[in-house]
Amino acid sequence: MSNEMKALSKAKAEVGLWMVRAPVPEIGPDDVLIRVKKTGICGTDIHIWNWDAWAAGTVPVPMITGHEFAGEIVEIGRNVTDLEIGQRCSGEGHLINKTSRQSRAGKFHLDPGTRGIGVNEQGAFAEYLRLPAFNVVPLPDAIDDEIGAILDPLGNAVHTALSFDLIGEDVLITGAGPIGIMAAAVARHVGARHVVITDVNQDRLDLAGRVADVTPVNVANQDLKDVWAGLKMKQGFDVGLEMSGNQQAMDQMVENLVMGGKIALLGIPPGKSPVDWSRIVFKAITIKGVYGREIFETWYKMIAMLENGLDVRNVITHRFKVDEFEAGFGAMLSGSSGKVVLDWT
Ligand SMILES: NC(=O)c1ccc[n+]([C@@H]2O[C@H](COP(=O)([O-])OP(=O)(O)OC[C@H]3O[C@@H](n4cnc5c(N)ncnc54)[C@H](O)[C@@H]3O)[C@@H](O)[C@H]2O)c1
Repeated sequence: MSNEMKALSKAKAEVGLWMVRAPVPEIGPDDVLIRVKKTGICGTDIHIWNWDAWAAGTVPVPMITGHEFAGEIVEIGRNVTDLEIGQRCSGEGHLINKTSRQSRAGKFHLDPGTRGIGVNEQGAFAEYLRLPAFNVVPLPDAIDDEIGAILDPLGNAVHTALSFDLIGEDVLITGAGPIGIMAAAVARHVGARHVVITDVNQDRLDLAGRVADVTPVNVANQDLKDVWAGLKMKQGFDVGLEMSGNQQAMDQMVENLVMGGKIALLGIPPGKSPVDWSRIVFKAITIKGVYGREIFETWYKMIAMLENGLDVRNVITHRFKVDEFEAGFGAMLSGSSGKVVLDWT
């Protein structure tokens, strides 16, 4: 194995990413080295590509980006006893400390010191990735590398969708991006009655209809109340999953929820956004913020569901060899793609 590798790096503090030669990472006693096979492009990578205010204030340069991946273990640290060379895997990209109160309670996803690969630490858009063995998630044969490469965002969808009991419930999802669409598939899989997904982008709504048995609604030209009344709901939706980060979508969700409804919030608004709190109080709505994935319960549940009929493959709309990464980022930048997967083999 050469001691150099191909990597997609934020090599300069300006728009874009650059394919560079970088040293293969050296692993510590508790780490593994992963030969990356497939990676997914996330909205976070687009922020880094665009070098917006968040990226410029957060990401040190140079930085190998990327955190959605699947690959194979090629080296293990001397303390690692429960993994083997040749094991196919994905992994949790949030690196956590084990000493916080939350971690010591087993709530690793709530560790306040979380650091992200591809954001704060060298990432997965490379031929090789160093990862703590703790973060590795072995992949069963039933999950191939391209699905393995999108488990991170599927995990966001699963974490959000499983925040509240959905069995027999009517669910509203605002935002038919890849994560909203996968959440819709999960909601159906776990037994929701009606799943309505909204967007203002018709391409995204069409994609939602190809991935899951849902009712897509273009709120730019359809009235949401008419839709749920047509589905014979009496008061509106029981549970809302906010996946757009859009202020109007959030207002619409509150308006169309039943008294005592519940909202799980994954979408990230671009800045401070006004909220009609009195509406939320008088409707007795419960709101839960969702960050990342539960480590590792979300991983366990999503793999179990994928092994038992959950099918999100159609959310992948573009596949490129990594040397065509600019086309991959172009597809993401169009705003109409589903998941875009890059092949590193
Ligand atoms: N909390 C977390 O840990 C976490 C992790 C990953 C992503 N996110 C956030 O989750 C959200 C979903 O991620 P994604 O990759 O699917 O995002 P995305 O940007 O691809 O999708 C958001 C969708 O919302 C739609 N939208 C805009 N205005 C709308 C409106 N008024 N009503 C309904 N839909 C509207 C957009 O057209 C778009 O299709 C994003 O806000 C992202 O930043 C949060």
